[in-house]
Amino acid sequence: MKKLSPKDNIVVLTGAGISAESGIRTFRDSGGLWENHRIEDIATYSGFRKNPALVWEFYRKRWEQSKIAKPNAAHYALVELEHYFNDSFTLITQNVDGLHTKAGNLSVVEMHGSLNRCYCTSCKHGLSMEEADAKQLIPLCPICGSYLRPDIVWFGEIPISLFEIENSLKKCDVFIIIGTSGVVYPAAGFVMTAKLMGAKTIAINLESPDNLTFLDEFYKGKSGDILPGLVKEWTGIG
Ligand code: APR
Ligand code: ZN
Repeated sequence: MKKLSPKDNIVVLTGAGISAESGIRTFRDSGGLWENHRIEDIATYSGFRKNPALVWEFYRKRWEQSKIAKPNAAHYALVELEHYFNDSFTLITQNVDGLHTKAGNLSVVEMHGSLNRCYCTSCKHGLSMEEADAKQLIPLCPICGSYLRPDIVWFGEIPISLFEIENSLKKCDVFIIIGTSGVVYPAAGFVMTAKLMGAKTIAINLESPDNLTFLDEFYKGKSGDILPGLVKEWTGIG
């Protein structure tokens, strides 16, 4: 695709694949297991009720891992894209690792939550992981003493900022998907909405994603290799 106008409305959706080159494993590359755990044990509220200590141990490890992870070339390319488009750029991520913010993106919609935060299961008081007493097996709310839980959107829960996301899709001119398998809804359906709204749709992924039929352009490969070159073409910079 040729150079884009800085006035175009750009919406980008990222998934685990964009962080793979930063050393963070994707979800669906190990037979449906996340670091040897069944998804229902560590990514549902009922799993948390059954064994909160196990769930906390799992997310504490993911948090420790994300703290030392470094953004890669694809994350930095998205910072360039935000500079070029400013207010007409929306970055939506399914990732909870905070790498877009670490790279320098100023506005990131973290629709599946963040490893950097947790909140109280009773009074909903929110705090950072640093503030929570992570040394406890199951950290407790400083206000009411109930269990805290990671601020992660688990299966069966409603993603964050859906209204804002829908609005950005309605006025979107170009929709770009990076590193997501396209199997988890509602995010997997955004490409269809964007396409129906008349947007041009582009994906960059290691394998063909499930929602290929709605794509105008598909680039197969690693986002760290492909995205920086595409961003140069789109912005005409570099
Ligand atoms: N560059 C581009 N794509 C890559 C790379 C890479 N370097 N490495 C892997 N991929 C692709 C894989 O081919 C796969 O299609 O990234 C995709 C990652 O897919 P998933 O592991 O399913 O991750 P994601 O789509 O983000 O999962 C969505 O599901 O489990 C829930 O809430 C969790 O946010 C997550 C959601
Ligand atoms: Zn509380």
